[in-house]
Amino acid sequence: MNDLAGKHIVLGLTGGIACYKAAELCRALLKEGATVQIVMTEAAKQFITPVTMQALSNRPVCDSQWDAREPNNMAHINLSREADAILIAPCSADFMSKLVHGGADDLLSLMCLARPVDKVPLLIAPAMNREMWDHPATVRNRAQLQQDGCTVLGVGTGDQACGETGDGRMLEPQELLQDVIAFFQPKVLSGQSVLVTAGPTFEAIDPVRGITNRSSGKMGFAIARAAQEAGAQVTLVAGPVALPTPRGVRRIDVQSASDMLVACVSAAQSASLFVATAAVADWRPAQPSDQKIKKDGSGQTPSLTFVENPDILATLAQSARAQNGALYCVGFAAESHDLLAHATAKRIRKGVPLLVGNIGPATFGKDDNALLLVDANGSWELPRNTKLALARQLVSEIAGRLPLPNAESSHALLRQRVAPTCLLPYPAPSP
Ligand code: C5P
Repeated sequence: MNDLAGKHIVLGLTGGIACYKAAELCRALLKEGATVQIVMTEAAKQFITPVTMQALSNRPVCDSQWDAREPNNMAHINLSREADAILIAPCSADFMSKLVHGGADDLLSLMCLARPVDKVPLLIAPAMNREMWDHPATVRNRAQLQQDGCTVLGVGTGDQACGETGDGRMLEPQELLQDVIAFFQPKVLSGQSVLVTAGPTFEAIDPVRGITNRSSGKMGFAIARAAQEAGAQVTLVAGPVALPTPRGVRRIDVQSASDMLVACVSAAQSASLFVATAAVADWRPAQPSDQKIKKDGSGQTPSLTFVENPDILATLAQSARAQNGALYCVGFAAESHDLLAHATAKRIRKGVPLLVGNIGPATFGKDDNALLLVDANGSWELPRNTKLALARQLVSEIAGRLPLPNAESSHALLRQRVAPTCLLPYPAPSP
């Protein structure tokens, strides 16, 4: 994917061991299609050389406010006017403090102060020792920076270069990349709480065997990621799949349809949108054996009887919250043929306003898909694309259908949509 195509990122490095991760981050940003201009402080140059950063970014590094290469000798103005975003990674405790106070005694801080705040977003990826991160001064600075419109990305937890263990590591390059990509997505689900089911279910026959299906979970995981990128708080209830959890998404792993129902009924109480992407098994063995069913050599096969599983989507679509408009439900249909007819009938049968059809064999396990959206007004296709691209389109379609909040909350929503964000993991840990 080229999720950052056309974006020009000014990547600022300040003093910290995590500068070594900035090299990989620079490559990752370029790989997603961005152009990257590196700006380094003197302290950063103690940790990684401008030679490395120039070679990786394919541009000379800027490190001085007195840079005579600039015709107008105003590197701080030129750099900040060209950027789609300024990302400081790593951002030291000292540099955070400098930003708070409007310090401007080197090129990077000068450029941050000179940036047009309403046009050029500033994102910082803090990196420091855990005591420094938890220090009241840093906690205050974090809060102030957010208030000033800066997006403070989260920090990682774990072993630190100093030998201590705790919060304050800079996020990994791939995590930062996801956060930057997410930052640029339109916040069409800001203020929404979204519940997504994904993957197959596993219905036990005995302790070692069971019935499942070929759903990979990729579509549901992509929808969870797209909803999170769009500003929602997302809970993903996942059947047995080995996919990584999208950043910032709360994941609940389940096995059977019954487990999935329990998790969904609970999570739906605070959700405003439910997207049922999971391929839930229609039936389960009526009496799973608590011991492994053995071959006894007689050639006789065991006979299994089945009972129907609860329909999670229909259950939630009939709930009081859905009926009074507080929960918007979207279903999926994986069919092998006659997609439009089946999807149209299924939308009515499930009692949902929007149903998304896809051809099962053409989507299971694949990274791309094509979707057919069916609502009360008709149907139209989202043509074949990557599942993430389709998920983003679907999220935008859904956002346009959500009931409008009342006037007061719509103002609150608008404020949230333009307000600075703090991309800490969900649920946000207490500071
Ligand atoms: O009836 P069918 O399985 O084709 O319906 C598909 C839609 O219903 C999907 O959105 C799926 O997640 C949901 N579903 C469910 N619980 C079931 C069966 C399907 O939520 N037991």
